[in-house]
Amino acid sequence: MIIYLNGQFMPIEEAKISVLDRGFIFGDGVYEVIPVYSRKAFRLEEHLRRLQHSLDGIKLANPHCDAIWASLIDELISHNQAEDQYLYLHITRGVAKRDHAFPNPPVPPTVFMMSNPLLTPPAELLHSGVACVTAPDNRWLRCDIKAIALLPNVLLRQRAVDAGCAETILIRDNAFLTEGAASNIFVVKDNKLLAPPKDNLMLPGITYDVLLEIAAANGIPHEVRKIGVNEVFAADELLLTSSTKEVLAITHLDGKAIGSGKPGEMFTRLHRLYQEYKHDVMRAA
Ligand code: PDD
Repeated sequence: MIIYLNGQFMPIEEAKISVLDRGFIFGDGVYEVIPVYSRKAFRLEEHLRRLQHSLDGIKLANPHCDAIWASLIDELISHNQAEDQYLYLHITRGVAKRDHAFPNPPVPPTVFMMSNPLLTPPAELLHSGVACVTAPDNRWLRCDIKAIALLPNVLLRQRAVDAGCAETILIRDNAFLTEGAASNIFVVKDNKLLAPPKDNLMLPGITYDVLLEIAAANGIPHEVRKIGVNEVFAADELLLTSSTKEVLAITHLDGKAIGSGKPGEMFTRLHRLYQEYKHDVMRAA
């Protein structure tokens, strides 16, 4: 497996960083996950825009312009075998003596990228849907930043795994839906697709945008608004999206069936449209 680290492509076994890297010491950095279909990075412009937003959020200069990112990413894709990959980009504030404040003068950032085969959910999971649990969203107030400091998300996802479930759905202030530990969540009620608004309390998902665009393009009623916790449990269907999971149906929540307890009509339609979009637009891009 060939990775990229600070200007060089190399086998992952040879990649080394300092124990004083601020990513290691403080979790002081940001990341991106970009799906690749047929060797083409999907929605690269949007992912790089979100990366810039994350970097701005932590006051770290972008080490590359978009054209350089694009050529590094193309090279990384070409070093790896799979037709469909997922890319992981990771930038930290670099290596410095341990001090909470930013290094002054600034030091070069650490830039790391790797690629893994993209394994989208298997057919069984698409047919059965997945079970989830809920938990209070106890993360910070800048969840719009794709920060590498993911301990809250790690602990929240583990709650799902410990309960034999796929994901933890997060409820802020005991009152409203934000997102999943590593995914965005949609509610379906009375044939309408509902999505929480993009604000500081959730990651602005690229797949979230794709799903809303597909809904708009196909005349599927949809609305972006705050979603109350009661609406989550009373949903006809619940959907989960992310770059690596695409679209999945959530059929059980905290042990109770959602709707019929099977993937519903909205899921089936949106999943089919997503696959068509992937085939016609993403792969053909
Ligand atoms: N996570 N919300 C959170 C907290 C996430 O971590 C992710 C993705 C999403 C979905 O965003 P997108 O559709 O752009 O993938 C929402 C990635 C896949 C990860 O951390 O591995």
